[in-house]
Amino acid sequence: MIKKDINQNDILYSEFLNIIDYNYIFNNEPIKRMKTKPLLEYTLNRLENLKEQIQEIKNCNLKKNASKIVFADGNVKSQIMIIGEGPGQKEDELGKPFMGDAGNLLNKMLKAINIEREKIYITNVVNYRPPNNRKPETSEINRYSEFLKEHISIIDPKILILMGSTAMEAILGSNKKISIERGQWKEVIIKQKIYETIVTFHPAYLLRKPDQKKYSWEDLKIIRQKIDDKKILI
Ligand code: URA
Repeated sequence: MIKKDINQNDILYSEFLNIIDYNYIFNNEPIKRMKTKPLLEYTLNRLENLKEQIQEIKNCNLKKNASKIVFADGNVKSQIMIIGEGPGQKEDELGKPFMGDAGNLLNKMLKAINIEREKIYITNVVNYRPPNNRKPETSEINRYSEFLKEHISIIDPKILILMGSTAMEAILGSNKKISIERGQWKEVIIKQKIYETIVTFHPAYLLRKPDQKKYSWEDLKIIRQKIDDKKILI
């Protein structure tokens, strides 16, 4: 009789067969290889953790002066994510982004390209209202952009819309000019993933400079075209 050599791999394999569950082998469900989005519950947990981290921020002038956190609004499963600058007075009162005049204009802008605001996901670079509605400082933008990048990676949108110079600075860097960068798709890497990103004017800027709305409309049409081309679900 020939004695078969049993090597280390054979031993490991027979141990493996003893410990695995037969359901694993005979399972007729296709294996999901992260092509679908993570479960909603998982996403909600990650968002809750992120919100808690932001609430625990120390030595932050924004937090000290604000009445509450303004985290986000909209559909967490959306494939479209909009990023503004930071909460104003109305947002600080209500705890939701884009609730005042700029928010009303944003809603109209979205409607003009057939998007209901509730169907998409909206947040800001900074989550606490800057005193007297001042623009967040670069150090604040840098500090909050770590949270923002985590936020983007949790929502994992197909397209990212950066509204205004603060959002552009947080994601693309400070040496860019909005009038040059706007209206073009860029591939931006955030936490090792590529996001198709576009910069456009902030609605608050358009309220101050209505003559710029024509450029904003060009950008909105470009965004709509991308949604249709990529068959993005709304
Ligand atoms: N402007 C912003 O950038 N965000 C808001 O939430 C409101 C106004």
